[in-house]
Amino acid sequence: MQFNVAAKYDVVIVGSGISGLICALELAKRGKSVCVLAKEAITEGSSLYAQGGIAVPLGEGDSVEKHLEDTIKAGAGLTDIDVAREIISNSSLSLDCLISYGVRFDITEQNKIHLTKEAAHSVSRVCHVGGDASGKYITKVLVDRVCRDSNISISQGSQVVSLITNEYGDVVGVLVEDVTRNHYVLLASDVILATGGIGQIFENTTNPKVSTGDGVAMAYSIGAELQDIEMIQFHPTVLLDFGDPFLISEAVRGEGGKLRNIRGQYFAKNYHPEGELAPRDILSRAILFELERTNSTRVFLDVSGLDRRYFKSRFPSIYQTCIDRKVDVFEAGIPVAPAAHYFVGGIKSKLDGSTKIRHLWSVGECSSNGFHGANRLASNSLLECIVAPHFLVNQLLKTPDKHLTNLTNIDIELDPGEYDEPQILKMKSELKSKNSKSLGLIRTKSTLLEHLNCLNTLKENIDVEKLSLNTQIQELKNMILLSSLICQAAINRENSIGVHYREDYPGSPEDLKHSIICKNGGLYCIPHTSITVIGANLT
Ligand code: FAD
Ligand code: SIN
Repeated sequence: MQFNVAAKYDVVIVGSGISGLICALELAKRGKSVCVLAKEAITEGSSLYAQGGIAVPLGEGDSVEKHLEDTIKAGAGLTDIDVAREIISNSSLSLDCLISYGVRFDITEQNKIHLTKEAAHSVSRVCHVGGDASGKYITKVLVDRVCRDSNISISQGSQVVSLITNEYGDVVGVLVEDVTRNHYVLLASDVILATGGIGQIFENTTNPKVSTGDGVAMAYSIGAELQDIEMIQFHPTVLLDFGDPFLISEAVRGEGGKLRNIRGQYFAKNYHPEGELAPRDILSRAILFELERTNSTRVFLDVSGLDRRYFKSRFPSIYQTCIDRKVDVFEAGIPVAPAAHYFVGGIKSKLDGSTKIRHLWSVGECSSNGFHGANRLASNSLLECIVAPHFLVNQLLKTPDKHLTNLTNIDIELDPGEYDEPQILKMKSELKSKNSKSLGLIRTKSTLLEHLNCLNTLKENIDVEKLSLNTQIQELKNMILLSSLICQAAINRENSIGVHYREDYPGSPEDLKHSIICKNGGLYCIPHTSITVIGANLT
């Protein structure tokens, strides 16, 4: 089928989270014409819901080296140390940049940025805005700026359904479906994927509806490499009752919240000396064991030891949500359980966002540059989202512009299959439920193999290789494709490391390896030390 070329830009950015918006502002500042595409409203994405804040080593006695040490420890040996050092070394410059955009961080009585503690950080180093509404306030400031920039066009309710490549395999644009179900092509010298996480492939997730992994699936489909995609982080404390899953920030535990089981027993210290502030994967699994042991579905976050007035002012959104959902915060505690939270793996890229495909870049949660290793340290994601765009923009500006064709139409082959809406919804919910059972916190070969069989049947019933113009179906195809790739990578990694826990192989790996999966090369491993991932520097 033929699609009209609607416009040409220097750069098309798919995704309007914090990473995409910072790329847009920095490119526009340097004279590039930019179009930002967002699947729903410009504000919608994980960035909006970020609570804890941004990890930056600003406190007394803290240093880049200390932050690096904590990041490497959390990453369980798979962190790319050079990348991590670059990101952390540039953290306070990037924070200043956010401040220059207009972000006002919460401060202490001494007029210093207030720093809080989160799991696996050896000191307090998480800066926040609006108490527990960091993402909301940062997003608001960035959106205001982007909307006022004449070099930036914004297209909301516009789902990118495919990347378009030329005869050399270089990316030349995107195919978009807008809210009125019109389809059109945007051509661009460069395309940046900033599509965020994949949490929606699971039943319970902190991620919003837009986080279905489209960017990762689209990149894979045109030959990009995916790295360590079996690494999915679960957050230990999510309120799952009386509405959509709602995160209860780690900062609540950082400020003294304790976990009790249904029998009223505190248990976290039985599993790890750091107790409530143990690394997320350990605490999440501890909660699962405790739920099984006590035959229950929730544990309780007890904040009765915290001053009530302080809690209300430090965590206003959490407090209000609990009140709205009739949760008796201070007496009964907040009922919580783990839920899928963060995609540690992603599109393999250098720190400068470049991928194996020319003119295709990736940034933020959808990319994997080695910063998070096998497990992300709390509040290091927003840090990456504010630092990495600067590296990307610097490198993109050094890359010669591609000559854009004068094409006015693009021909794309489509899936002729017909699927009805109730059928799609049913398949989506079955997929989520099966993913939760097999790709969750505890994995075994038998359940993974069984799951892969189901996914293969699904892939036959709904041709994931071919493009569908109904975005609901295309989204489902992306979710099935991604689930099957994750399942293959999880089967292949026969050891336990970071967030990937195999009950049948509980031991750590003998050799540290990254798993790579690529349409033309299949699934293979590369030794941890052989990767060079920095790319451009900031000068
Ligand atoms: P997102 O903010 O997720 O944005 C993705 C964008 O891509 C959206 O605009 C979406 O519409 C768009 N998109 C997706 N697919 C398509 C498509 N096909 N076509 C067009 N557009 C598309 N990290 C921290 O460091 N600190 C925290 O305190 C913190 N708290 C968190 C709390 C919650 C509840 C969650 C869910 C995550 C939290 N994280 C936190 C993680 C962090 O917020 C995310 O990793 C980060 O915000 C991701 O930003 P991003 O720019 O990569 O993508
Ligand atoms: C939280 O506030 O607990 C989320 C922080 C993060 O995911 O980094």
